[in-house]
Amino acid sequence: MKIKPLSNALGAEVTGIDLRQPQDPDTIKALQSAFVENLVLVVRDQEDLSPEDQMRFCEFFGPLGARARPADDRPEKADAPAEVMFVSNRKEDGRFIGSLPEGEMQFHMDQCYTERPARATCLYGIAIPEKGGDTVFGNLCAAYEALPKDLKAIVDSSRARHVFSYGSTSTDQVDDAGKTTEYVQPMAVLQPETGRPSLYVSRLMTRQITGLEDAAAREVLDLLFDHQERPEFLYTHKWRRGDLVIWDNLCTVHARTDFDPAQDRHLRRFTVAGAPLKAA
Ligand SMILES: [Fe+2]
Repeated sequence: MKIKPLSNALGAEVTGIDLRQPQDPDTIKALQSAFVENLVLVVRDQEDLSPEDQMRFCEFFGPLGARARPADDRPEKADAPAEVMFVSNRKEDGRFIGSLPEGEMQFHMDQCYTERPARATCLYGIAIPEKGGDTVFGNLCAAYEALPKDLKAIVDSSRARHVFSYGSTSTDQVDDAGKTTEYVQPMAVLQPETGRPSLYVSRLMTRQITGLEDAAAREVLDLLFDHQERPEFLYTHKWRRGDLVIWDNLCTVHARTDFDPAQDRHLRRFTVAGAPLKAA
């Protein structure tokens, strides 16, 4: 197995491993340390990885997480594991079979609007468009470190409200009258293994800073979003079929670039369960 950095910001590429096979403890340890350090792991060339293989990989990093909400309105296969979710634009009987099927999606952390956001999210690339549909990752620990003093002081002492307006992929689709879920989180949270602080806010889902007037909060949040989305904190992942990607969902933010809806894009998702977040 080889592990090498993918960018100056974050991410490492893992090659020379077949995750259909059980792994020895040293390999698992190496993957765990690479995950904590690089925040995103891209394991290449994982052909024909079954849901069970993907679940076993996720469990190297902690217990499997449940979906943020039950698969109530999704016609996903009855024989699929309960924890699976598809990020997909495939349709059956005229309905999308998965979630968040199309278009650009702004920066966010998965499940930040719940008490226990997933510790990690894992996506397996089954069908990839020829162009676009990239996942852009941002390093929130590096973003925190580089904060100007005045913003850091606010971040260190404040909490923010995260809202998910179901199905929305950009702030102009947000509909607070519709189905939403929300939760208040510290604005600086700790990476559990290292105690590194992470700037835990995102353009798509962070709406308010508790204790600030709306206009003042808006101003601070816009500065923080612009800061964390600076190119030096980002790595753009161009998917290949057979890529298995896992990311630290507390210390990274991610977004999706647009793609041609006529092209097949089908990714299989599992999560690693998280705990209530600790303030830095
Ligand atoms: Fe996401």
